[in-house]
Amino acid sequence: MPLMIRQLSEALGAEVIGLDLSRPIADAEFVRVHRAHLDHHVLVFREQQLTPRQQIEFSRRFGPLDAHPSQGDAHLAGHPEILVISTRQENGKDVGIRNAGPLWHSDLAYRQQPSLGSMLYAIELPDSGGNTGFANMVKAYERLPARLKAAVGERRALFSSTRNLSLLAHHPVFRTHPETGRKSIFVNPQLTKSIDGMAAEDSAALLSEIYVHCQQPEFIYSHEWRPGDLVFWDNRCVLHIADHTRLDDPTYIRHMHRTTIAGDQPF
Ligand code: OGA
Ligand code: MN
Repeated sequence: MPLMIRQLSEALGAEVIGLDLSRPIADAEFVRVHRAHLDHHVLVFREQQLTPRQQIEFSRRFGPLDAHPSQGDAHLAGHPEILVISTRQENGKDVGIRNAGPLWHSDLAYRQQPSLGSMLYAIELPDSGGNTGFANMVKAYERLPARLKAAVGERRALFSSTRNLSLLAHHPVFRTHPETGRKSIFVNPQLTKSIDGMAAEDSAALLSEIYVHCQQPEFIYSHEWRPGDLVFWDNRCVLHIADHTRLDDPTYIRHMHRTTIAGDQPF
Protein backbone atom coordinates (compact mmCIF):
# COMPACT_ATOMS: atom_id res chain seq x y z
CA MET A 1 0.00 0.00 0.00
CA PRO A 2 1.40 3.43 -0.86
CA LEU A 3 2.11 5.66 2.09
CA MET A 4 -0.65 8.17 2.78
CA ILE A 5 -0.97 11.07 5.21
CA ARG A 6 -4.50 11.91 6.35
CA GLN A 7 -5.21 14.94 8.52
CA LEU A 8 -7.05 14.07 11.74
CA SER A 9 -8.44 17.41 12.90
CA GLU A 10 -8.43 21.12 12.23
CA ALA A 11 -6.23 21.63 15.28
CA LEU A 12 -3.36 19.23 14.57
CA GLY A 13 -2.55 15.59 13.97
CA ALA A 14 -2.40 13.23 10.99
CA GLU A 15 -2.69 9.52 10.46
CA VAL A 16 0.09 7.77 8.55
CA ILE A 17 -1.44 4.96 6.52
CA GLY A 18 0.42 2.11 4.86
CA LEU A 19 3.52 1.76 6.99
CA ASP A 20 4.52 -1.33 8.97
CA LEU A 21 6.82 -0.01 11.68
CA SER A 22 8.07 -3.47 12.63
CA ARG A 23 10.25 -3.36 9.48
CA PRO A 24 13.07 -1.00 8.62
CA ILE A 25 11.67 2.15 7.00
CA ALA A 26 13.12 3.10 3.59
CA ASP A 27 14.85 6.51 3.48
CA ALA A 28 12.25 7.97 1.10
CA GLU A 29 9.46 6.91 3.48
CA PHE A 30 11.33 8.29 6.45
CA VAL A 31 11.64 11.68 4.74
CA ARG A 32 7.85 11.80 4.27
CA VAL A 33 7.12 10.76 7.84
CA HIS A 34 9.58 13.31 9.16
CA ARG A 35 8.00 16.05 7.02
CA ALA A 36 4.50 15.06 8.14
CA HIS A 37 5.62 15.18 11.78
CA LEU A 38 6.88 18.75 11.33
CA ASP A 39 3.69 19.77 9.49
CA HIS A 40 1.07 18.06 11.70
CA HIS A 41 2.95 17.83 15.06
CA VAL A 42 1.23 14.55 16.04
CA LEU A 43 1.32 11.37 13.94
CA VAL A 44 -0.87 8.30 14.47
CA PHE A 45 0.18 4.89 13.12
CA ARG A 46 -2.68 2.37 13.49
CA GLU A 47 -2.66 -1.42 13.74
CA GLN A 48 1.00 -1.82 14.59
CA GLN A 49 2.47 -4.95 16.14
CA LEU A 50 5.72 -3.91 17.71
CA THR A 51 8.20 -5.59 19.99
CA PRO A 52 10.04 -3.26 22.37
CA ARG A 53 13.13 -3.59 20.16
CA GLN A 54 11.18 -2.58 17.03
CA GLN A 55 9.68 0.47 18.76
CA ILE A 56 13.16 1.50 19.95
CA GLU A 57 14.57 1.07 16.45
CA PHE A 58 11.87 3.21 14.81
CA SER A 59 12.25 5.85 17.53
CA ARG A 60 16.02 6.03 16.96
CA ARG A 61 15.49 7.08 13.36
CA PHE A 62 14.59 10.50 14.82
CA GLY A 63 17.62 10.77 17.09
CA PRO A 64 19.18 9.39 20.26
CA LEU A 65 16.75 8.37 22.98
CA ASP A 66 16.36 10.01 26.37
CA ALA A 67 16.41 8.02 29.58
CA HIS A 68 13.50 9.20 31.72
CA PRO A 69 14.40 10.02 35.35
CA SER A 70 11.61 7.67 36.51
CA GLN A 71 12.99 4.82 34.53
CA GLY A 72 14.64 3.39 37.60
CA ASP A 73 11.24 2.07 38.71
CA ALA A 74 9.06 2.29 35.62
CA HIS A 75 11.22 1.05 32.76
CA LEU A 76 10.65 -2.21 30.96
CA ALA A 77 12.95 -4.97 32.24
CA GLY A 78 15.85 -5.33 29.82
CA HIS A 79 14.84 -2.19 27.87
CA PRO A 80 15.80 0.97 29.75
CA GLU A 81 14.70 3.03 26.72
CA ILE A 82 11.07 2.07 27.33
CA LEU A 83 9.00 3.76 29.99
CA VAL A 84 5.91 1.82 31.03
CA ILE A 85 2.72 3.91 31.32
CA SER A 86 0.26 1.55 32.93
CA THR A 87 -2.57 1.02 35.39
CA ARG A 88 -1.59 -2.66 35.75
CA GLN A 89 -0.43 -3.92 39.10
CA GLU A 90 1.69 -6.90 40.01
CA ASN A 91 1.91 -8.06 43.62
CA GLY A 92 0.05 -4.95 44.71
CA LYS A 93 2.55 -2.63 43.00
CA ASP A 94 2.15 -0.47 39.90
CA VAL A 95 4.21 -1.88 37.02
CA GLY A 96 4.72 1.58 35.52
CA ILE A 97 3.59 5.19 35.81
CA ARG A 98 -0.14 5.14 36.49
CA ASN A 99 -0.94 8.65 35.35
CA ALA A 100 1.84 10.20 33.29
CA GLY A 101 -0.06 13.35 32.41
CA PRO A 102 -2.49 14.71 35.01
CA LEU A 103 -2.10 18.25 33.59
CA TRP A 104 -1.16 19.68 30.21
CA HIS A 105 2.60 19.37 29.71
CA SER A 106 5.52 18.72 27.38
CA ASP A 107 7.72 15.76 28.34
CA LEU A 108 10.97 16.48 30.20
CA ALA A 109 10.51 20.26 29.86
CA TYR A 110 12.51 20.66 33.10
CA ARG A 111 15.68 19.37 31.40
CA GLN A 112 18.31 21.75 30.01
CA GLN A 113 17.60 19.90 26.78
CA PRO A 114 13.93 18.86 26.82
CA SER A 115 12.83 16.04 24.57
CA LEU A 116 12.22 16.31 20.84
CA GLY A 117 9.22 14.03 20.96
CA SER A 118 7.66 10.95 22.50
CA MET A 119 6.19 7.79 21.01
CA LEU A 120 3.44 6.06 22.92
CA TYR A 121 2.36 2.56 21.90
CA ALA A 122 -0.98 1.17 23.13
CA ILE A 123 -0.87 -2.49 24.15
CA GLU A 124 -3.97 -2.91 26.32
CA LEU A 125 -6.86 -0.47 26.66
CA PRO A 126 -10.05 -0.09 28.70
CA ASP A 127 -13.45 -0.30 26.92
CA SER A 128 -13.81 3.45 27.31
CA GLY A 129 -11.96 6.47 28.61
CA GLY A 130 -8.26 7.17 28.69
CA ASN A 131 -7.98 9.47 25.68
CA THR A 132 -4.90 11.63 25.29
CA GLY A 133 -5.41 15.30 24.47
CA PHE A 134 -2.92 17.13 22.25
CA ALA A 135 -2.82 20.92 21.89
CA ASN A 136 -1.16 22.85 19.05
CA MET A 137 1.12 25.47 20.60
CA VAL A 138 2.12 27.00 17.25
CA LYS A 139 -1.48 27.98 16.59
CA ALA A 140 -1.91 29.00 20.22
CA TYR A 141 1.09 31.34 19.86
CA GLU A 142 -0.21 32.80 16.59
CA ARG A 143 -3.60 33.54 18.16
CA LEU A 144 -2.34 34.75 21.52
CA PRO A 145 -3.68 38.27 22.17
CA ALA A 146 -1.02 40.95 21.58
CA ARG A 147 -1.47 42.15 25.15
CA LEU A 148 -0.30 38.76 26.50
CA LYS A 149 2.55 38.52 23.98
CA ALA A 150 3.76 41.94 25.08
CA ALA A 151 3.45 41.11 28.78
CA VAL A 152 5.78 38.13 28.29
CA GLY A 153 8.18 39.73 25.80
CA GLU A 154 11.44 37.80 25.70
CA ARG A 155 11.11 36.40 29.19
CA ARG A 156 12.07 32.91 30.30
CA ALA A 157 10.33 30.70 32.82
CA LEU A 158 11.38 28.21 35.47
CA PHE A 159 10.45 24.57 34.88
CA SER A 160 10.80 21.79 37.41
CA SER A 161 10.02 18.10 37.67
CA THR A 162 6.97 17.13 39.72
CA ARG A 163 8.69 14.03 41.11
CA ASN A 164 12.20 15.40 41.59
CA LEU A 165 12.33 19.08 42.53
CA SER A 166 16.09 19.26 42.02
CA LEU A 167 15.57 18.83 38.27
CA LEU A 168 15.01 22.32 36.93
CA ALA A 169 15.75 24.60 34.01
CA HIS A 170 14.92 28.03 32.61
CA HIS A 171 13.51 28.19 29.08
CA PRO A 172 11.93 30.90 26.93
CA VAL A 173 8.15 31.16 27.42
CA PHE A 174 7.93 31.34 23.61
CA ARG A 175 10.39 29.07 21.88
CA THR A 176 11.44 28.77 18.23
CA HIS A 177 11.22 25.35 16.63
CA PRO A 178 14.76 24.31 15.65
CA GLU A 179 13.59 22.62 12.44
CA THR A 180 10.68 24.76 11.20
CA GLY A 181 11.65 28.14 12.66
CA ARG A 182 8.07 28.61 13.89
CA LYS A 183 7.36 30.10 17.31
CA SER A 184 5.22 28.36 19.90
CA ILE A 185 4.14 28.63 23.51
CA PHE A 186 6.31 26.37 25.66
CA VAL A 187 5.07 26.98 29.23
CA ASN A 188 2.71 24.39 30.71
CA PRO A 189 0.62 23.96 33.88
CA GLN A 190 2.31 20.73 35.03
CA LEU A 191 5.97 21.75 34.95
CA THR A 192 6.28 25.55 34.74
CA LYS A 193 6.69 27.21 38.14
CA SER A 194 7.02 30.92 37.34
CA ILE A 195 8.09 33.51 34.79
CA ASP A 196 11.53 34.94 35.46
CA GLY A 197 11.83 38.55 36.60
CA MET A 198 8.17 39.00 37.64
CA ALA A 199 6.50 39.22 41.03
CA ALA A 200 5.00 35.86 42.03
CA GLU A 201 1.37 36.99 41.75
CA ASP A 202 1.91 38.71 38.39
CA SER A 203 3.63 35.62 37.05
CA ALA A 204 0.84 33.32 38.30
CA ALA A 205 -1.86 35.56 36.84
CA LEU A 206 -0.14 35.81 33.46
CA LEU A 207 0.52 32.06 33.28
CA SER A 208 -3.07 31.27 34.09
CA GLU A 209 -4.31 33.59 31.32
CA ILE A 210 -1.93 31.91 28.88
CA TYR A 211 -3.12 28.44 29.96
CA VAL A 212 -6.80 29.33 29.53
CA HIS A 213 -5.96 30.52 26.02
CA CYS A 214 -3.96 27.35 25.21
CA GLN A 215 -6.78 25.03 26.30
CA GLN A 216 -9.35 26.28 23.80
CA PRO A 217 -10.97 23.51 21.72
CA GLU A 218 -9.72 25.03 18.44
CA PHE A 219 -6.17 23.99 19.38
CA ILE A 220 -6.99 20.48 20.64
CA TYR A 221 -7.21 16.99 19.16
CA SER A 222 -8.31 14.24 21.54
CA HIS A 223 -6.94 10.84 20.57
CA GLU A 224 -9.22 7.89 21.16
CA TRP A 225 -6.85 4.94 21.44
CA ARG A 226 -7.16 1.56 19.76
CA PRO A 227 -4.82 -1.31 20.59
CA GLY A 228 -1.84 -1.23 18.22
CA ASP A 229 -1.82 2.58 17.90
CA LEU A 230 1.56 4.24 18.01
CA VAL A 231 1.33 8.01 18.47
CA PHE A 232 4.38 10.23 17.94
CA TRP A 233 4.11 13.84 19.11
CA ASP A 234 6.48 16.81 18.89
CA ASN A 235 7.23 17.96 22.44
CA ARG A 236 8.76 21.18 21.10
CA CYS A 237 5.40 22.60 19.99
CA VAL A 238 2.63 20.38 21.44
CA LEU A 239 1.21 20.00 24.94
CA HIS A 240 -0.54 16.78 25.95
CA ILE A 241 -2.67 15.46 28.79
CA ALA A 242 -3.99 12.08 29.90
CA ASP A 243 -7.76 12.17 30.14
CA HIS A 244 -8.46 9.49 32.77
CA THR A 245 -11.88 9.09 34.33
CA ARG A 246 -11.60 5.76 36.18
CA LEU A 247 -8.06 5.60 37.51
CA ASP A 248 -9.14 3.98 40.77
CA ASP A 249 -11.27 1.32 39.09
CA PRO A 250 -9.29 -1.99 39.22
CA THR A 251 -10.90 -3.14 35.95
CA TYR A 252 -9.56 -0.04 34.15
CA ILE A 253 -6.49 -1.50 32.45
CA ARG A 254 -4.49 0.76 30.16
CA HIS A 255 -0.99 -0.44 29.34
CA MET A 256 1.43 1.43 27.07
CA HIS A 257 5.12 1.68 26.16
CA ARG A 258 6.78 5.06 25.70
CA THR A 259 10.05 5.95 24.03
CA THR A 260 11.40 9.50 24.23
CA ILE A 261 13.67 11.12 21.65
CA ALA A 262 16.26 13.55 23.00
CA GLY A 263 15.99 17.19 21.94
CA ASP A 264 18.06 20.35 22.08
CA GLN A 265 18.14 23.47 24.20
CA PRO A 266 15.15 25.76 23.52
CA PHE A 267 15.81 29.26 22.14
C1 OGA B 1 3.24 10.45 28.54
C2 OGA B 1 1.91 11.00 28.83
C3 OGA B 1 -0.43 10.62 28.45
C4 OGA B 1 -1.35 9.46 28.49
O1 OGA B 1 3.36 9.23 28.35
O2 OGA B 1 4.18 11.23 28.46
O3 OGA B 1 1.80 12.12 29.22
O4 OGA B 1 -2.48 9.64 27.97
N1 OGA B 1 0.90 10.17 28.58
O5 OGA B 1 -1.00 8.42 29.03
MN1 MN C 1 3.73 13.17 28.92
